[in-house]
Amino acid sequence: MNKIAVITSGGDAPGMNACIRAIVNTAWQDDVEVIGFRHGFRGITQDLAQPLHPDDMRLVSQRGGTFLKSSRYPEFREVASAQAAAKVLDSHDISALIVIGGDGSFRGAAHLQAHWQGQVIGIPGTIDNDIAGTDTTIGFSTAVDTAMDAIDKVRETAEAMARVFLIEVMGRHAGFIGLHAAIAGAAEAMLLPELEPQPKLADMADNILRAREAFPDSSYIVVVAENLWPGGVHELGNNLSKATGVTCHPCPLGHIQRGGRPNAQDRILAMQLGAAAVSAILEGKRTIMIGLEQEHVVEVPLHLTFARDKPLDQRLVQLQLGLQGVNLASKSTTKTA
Ligand code: F6P
Repeated sequence: MNKIAVITSGGDAPGMNACIRAIVNTAWQDDVEVIGFRHGFRGITQDLAQPLHPDDMRLVSQRGGTFLKSSRYPEFREVASAQAAAKVLDSHDISALIVIGGDGSFRGAAHLQAHWQGQVIGIPGTIDNDIAGTDTTIGFSTAVDTAMDAIDKVRETAEAMARVFLIEVMGRHAGFIGLHAAIAGAAEAMLLPELEPQPKLADMADNILRAREAFPDSSYIVVVAENLWPGGVHELGNNLSKATGVTCHPCPLGHIQRGGRPNAQDRILAMQLGAAAVSAILEGKRTIMIGLEQEHVVEVPLHLTFARDKPLDQRLVQLQLGLQGVNLASKSTTKTA
């Protein structure tokens, strides 16, 4: 019987468990045994092996996080770590490894491939959606739902009290969650790393004051991508409050965005990619990522997934900029009866 291995690596993402289920069940039908290593690359080097059987997969798809556990393991950049991992994989007679993770994990996967003769296959699993070569990543859709839900909740109190809120969302250095959450949450403004030019504090303050003048009894929500404003939304809130004389409440969403049950879209994506990864292995493929482009499963050379930045969809950027522009409209805002 052939044997393959799977790990979940880096920041966990809702849908990773559904992906493991698809891998295990697809492999089983082709008489391929699957072993998981707990805690990602660290778990391979420490031989934290865990056999995986279809019977154990019945209740996993609906759970967030990853039952295989994950970790960040920068030590894996070292040649000795990759060699140690290769040795452990060989000791289990493993012929292929599937890495479910983000761009850092794919770098690790490519590094391992350089020191191991087995097949390495990547599956994009990160809430950030910042991987080139795939339209979306496992966990992104659920994270956007979570951010939207949080914005909706903040909106209720913000509207009741006519307050300004700065909601910080994750994304590391990419604005995908921010853009999608801003549109879905009908935000009045957004601050994303990809926006050129970056809005200045004075402009943001001016926009808030103009919106307060036009809609004095209303809420105003700014979606802010993390790692963008020095000191985050707390510092931005202080600065804007001083500049406007209006209290701007900071509200970082943090790791809430990584948790929760995966939504249907993420489960379906995860299962498509998991099943396709096993097929690719059986066809002898190696050093690729299995992604999704325009609803079709695609195979992308692994190094291309982290060699370039993935751009935001400019149509969505323009949509949000246009919609939020209503707050700054100079024409009369008086409602007609
Ligand atoms: O990669 C996913 C992510 O949640 C990013 O959005 C965020 O910047 C980072 O992980 C946080 O990492 P950690 O949980 O290790 O602090």
